[in-house]
Amino acid sequence: MSKLPEEFIRGVESVVGALGIIGDAERMHSYLSDWRNAYRGEAALIVRPASTEEVASMVRLCNQYQVAVVPQGGNTGLCGGSIPDASGTQVVLSLTRMNRICEVDATNETMTVEAGVILQKVQEAAADAGRLFPLSLGAEGSCTIGGNLATNAGGTAVLRYGNMRDLTLGLEVVLPDGQIWNGLRGLRKDNTGYDLKHLFIGSEGTLGVITAAVLKLYPAVRSVTTAWVALPSADAAVQLIGIIRGLCGDRLTGFELMSRQSVEFVLSHVVGCSDPFAESHPWYVLIELSDTQPDAPLNDLLELGIGEALERGLVSNAVVAGSEAQVAALWALREGISEAQNHEGPSLKHDISVPVSCIPAFIQSTDQRLREQFPGVRIVAYGHVGDGNLHYNISKPVGSDDASFKAQQEAIMHVIYDATAGFQGSISAEHGLGQAKRAAARLYKDPLELELMRTIKLTLDPNSLMNPGKVL
Ligand code: FAD
Ligand code: MLT
Ligand code: ZN
Repeated sequence: MSKLPEEFIRGVESVVGALGIIGDAERMHSYLSDWRNAYRGEAALIVRPASTEEVASMVRLCNQYQVAVVPQGGNTGLCGGSIPDASGTQVVLSLTRMNRICEVDATNETMTVEAGVILQKVQEAAADAGRLFPLSLGAEGSCTIGGNLATNAGGTAVLRYGNMRDLTLGLEVVLPDGQIWNGLRGLRKDNTGYDLKHLFIGSEGTLGVITAAVLKLYPAVRSVTTAWVALPSADAAVQLIGIIRGLCGDRLTGFELMSRQSVEFVLSHVVGCSDPFAESHPWYVLIELSDTQPDAPLNDLLELGIGEALERGLVSNAVVAGSEAQVAALWALREGISEAQNHEGPSLKHDISVPVSCIPAFIQSTDQRLREQFPGVRIVAYGHVGDGNLHYNISKPVGSDDASFKAQQEAIMHVIYDATAGFQGSISAEHGLGQAKRAAARLYKDPLELELMRTIKLTLDPNSLMNPGKVL
């Protein structure tokens, strides 16, 4: 039984038809909890509009009945942003039926897509047109462009191409009052005042519903080299990136750091993964170089860089992938970490960033503090080190019970976020705030910035119906 008035339900039916509504508990289930089962909510209905006009009519209807709207894409977010609260009175607005690729303009190097298109489909459509859409992340087979925009997603190629903000030229958004803002322009230059699309990118569904976007395309990549490198320390990784970048410039597209603990989790839990080396090492990096030329001398460049690093004692071992299968195997070791950590019981995710130069000091001092204060916790540190972005995740001590680990959650978080603040870092580099980091943002974000954000929220959404309880 829905907790909302019968007339509202009839109104929804008249907007999206029976096909666009999910109301039975069994089918609603997967929309109400996240991938890790870390957040769970209830909803009056799941509504799946098929067009921008339907989204606009839904938002107007929700305004009329003062019903809160929780936009949802692929539901792969890691901060609980797409999960409704426990009241059972909110409506989850799933964009997954809006999955059309509207236009590929290879000459303008743009693609116009609806918000519910899966990221991988966008990558494939770009490849079919001889172009590249470079956003790349572990959840790319399930996450949607709308979710990528709403979280300003990052991933493994930010080093070369930037995050979602950098990959977007235009947006269409249904505003909290139901008006449709059509900003679907494929312009690389437009200085006619405030750049409004940037308000909505990274707003996590709190300022409106993104319904479509014009994305930037890039020249297709025709040669790629991938290497797995073992290092004695995180400091060596930061020095290595300087060497490789100096030699390869923009050809460096990925530089992913992983601690031994992260790799051990993958080796234990992800079927088919094996250690490229016979011996174990404290740290690893996965390096990817790419070029638009088919025969670019990437192997030579990489070998030159690694050779220099070996001489300086920064590298302990290295292997360059010799086949597509080896490339996939090395990426599986990196991309498997999130899933593998789930098998080790409850974990605490901290998606922090600090200046790249501060990464070694951050790891050294934070590891030490955590080990002193919380003996036995397992530190799973990995991430997009070229962007200064570490996933400094914590798994519970072996043999400890979930409840006592949970009781330490706040204290562990403060150690990590205090250290992040000490290096002028951010408590959310790429995942957003959602419901997970909303309270922490109040402590660690500049009060004036928060006040400006509240002013913007109140101006656009005075009734606070767009994803309430998230971000602010
Ligand atoms: P959802 O999870 O459905 O929603 C996320 C947020 O966006 C919510 O606040 C929701 O309300 C809002 N939202 C969704 N669609 C819309 C819309 N159309 N309009 C307005 N608001 C909307 N993230 C990274 O940045 N980098 C990574 O490397 C990365 N790796 C990951 C690896 C794994 C294995 C997993 C599970 C997740 C990873 N993520 C990563 C997190 C996640 O995939 C991204 O945040 C992704 O962009 C979310 O897209 P989604 O469609 O699943 O959004
Ligand atoms: C990743 O880069 O693998 C994800 O963003 C991190 C995570 O799952 O914590
Ligand atoms: Zn990440």
